[in-house]
Amino acid sequence: MSTSVGTEAPDQYGLVGHPVAHSWSPFIHGMFAKETSQNLVYRLFDVQPNNFRREALRMFASGVRGLNITLPHKQTAAELVNELTPRAERAQAVNTIAYFEDTSLLGDNTDGLGLMADLERNLGLTLANKRVLIMGAGGAVRGVLGPLLERELGECVIANRTPERARQLATDFADMGEIKPYAFSDVKGPPYDLVINATAASLQGEVPTMPAGLVNEQTVCYDMAYGRGHTAFTLWAKSQRAGRTVKGWGMLVEQAAESFLLWRGIRPDTKPVLAALAQHT
Ligand code: ATR
Repeated sequence: MSTSVGTEAPDQYGLVGHPVAHSWSPFIHGMFAKETSQNLVYRLFDVQPNNFRREALRMFASGVRGLNITLPHKQTAAELVNELTPRAERAQAVNTIAYFEDTSLLGDNTDGLGLMADLERNLGLTLANKRVLIMGAGGAVRGVLGPLLERELGECVIANRTPERARQLATDFADMGEIKPYAFSDVKGPPYDLVINATAASLQGEVPTMPAGLVNEQTVCYDMAYGRGHTAFTLWAKSQRAGRTVKGWGMLVEQAAESFLLWRGIRPDTKPVLAALAQHT
């Protein structure tokens, strides 16, 4: 690890995905580096699925110290690394790779910590005994289910377009707690305390159709997606009179802080970054 003293070349980090041009990660890690006086650069690497393995190995061979991994490479990244942290092993998905001289490539998944930090620390929610509805059953959900189930939820329902994938998650995580898998059309009320959208439907400006009565004035509706203005999901949540609608900016910043901690051994303060992003978005 090096700090910003002297004229050493900065350590190299970055985000690999496809697409990545829209990413705020360079901004976030740039602010973290300044705040903690770490001498590093963080770049975006747009890599097609077929090239992921070759390109990632080439980057590490050329001196890159760490990578964040995003859509659609998270599962391939779990197969690439030499070692997985227990939470990445559980998720079978990797969003952070660190190169260490002794262990070579370590794969981690900081998405769950990021969501928990945003829900509990930033939004002040308590999850114990709460009824939670998760929409979606893909890699993003795999990353957050472990930490969510550790909170002793009152009820955990997963609804997905392909119900078989929700059933598979219920089986894979059965040792951590009960998950009730459903098709969207079969989800039952009464209204949930927390509804988390982890489907990619938002990207197409869509919200899966669900029965009425799942949301009321006490419900927090959390979209893992983020962007300027409303998403299709937050608009839907407002139409259902949700008590609170939140986009995933906080999760993005908090998972980045956990990656930064793995790479640099220091967890940056996320508040200044959250405040800066609030100005832009
Ligand atoms: P991620 O890593 O973001 O979770 P993923 O593993 O491809 O990406 O999962 C995408 C999720 O969004 C899945 O739950 C997917 O539903 P299926 O399992 O049925 O494919 C969901 N999804 C994508 N487009 C959707 C749409 N238009 N309507 C509803 N769900 C959608």
